[in-house]
Amino acid sequence: MKRVKLWDKEFEISYPAHEIKKDIENLANVINKDLSNESMPLFVSVLNGSFIFTADFIRLIEFPCEVSFVKLTSYQGTETTGTVNQLIGLTEKIEDRTVIILEDIVDTGITLGKLIETLERHKPKSIKIATLLFKPEAYKGSLNIDYVGKKIPNDFIVGYGLDYNGLGRNLADIYTLV
Ligand code: IMP
Ligand code: MG
Repeated sequence: MKRVKLWDKEFEISYPAHEIKKDIENLANVINKDLSNESMPLFVSVLNGSFIFTADFIRLIEFPCEVSFVKLTSYQGTETTGTVNQLIGLTEKIEDRTVIILEDIVDTGITLGKLIETLERHKPKSIKIATLLFKPEAYKGSLNIDYVGKKIPNDFIVGYGLDYNGLGRNLADIYTLV
């Protein structure tokens, strides 16, 4: 089994590049069928983890669309409001448009929940969620995930955009912590 060491931890290959490619093709086929009649949908890719998935996925989309890259940052608001989430990078018009969030992975779903809450303030026509990976056992959200590339166990993974303390994003395959 192919292994990599990142910082202090060993990872073992669990999801090879050719399987990732096949799952992304299936995902794109479904989305091409479902959303081809929408007028100019907007894909919103969540940085950093989703950059490689987005690059591969978006080239398989056959209808006119826009792609935007966002980051969700949190900062401490006033004592009464607690943590405030701010969406940075979004300049496109959202109002009355179909927005498809592109995520590398949905784990607890906390990030996704915050992102949707923020996007909804801009009054989109609808928000759909497409994620390459989904950890059903870790998921605490209530929202339905519209499009899932692959369901995976609740283990820590790296590669294909996903990192362990900054390392591993460049790996073509996905590896699981040993
Ligand atoms: P969530 O808010 O728990 O759903 O996950 C938020 C973010 O954590 C994801 O978008 C990833 O960037 C990161 N993440 C979750 N699980 C993993 C993992 O197994 N490896 C690396 N990053 C992960
Ligand atoms: Mg992410």
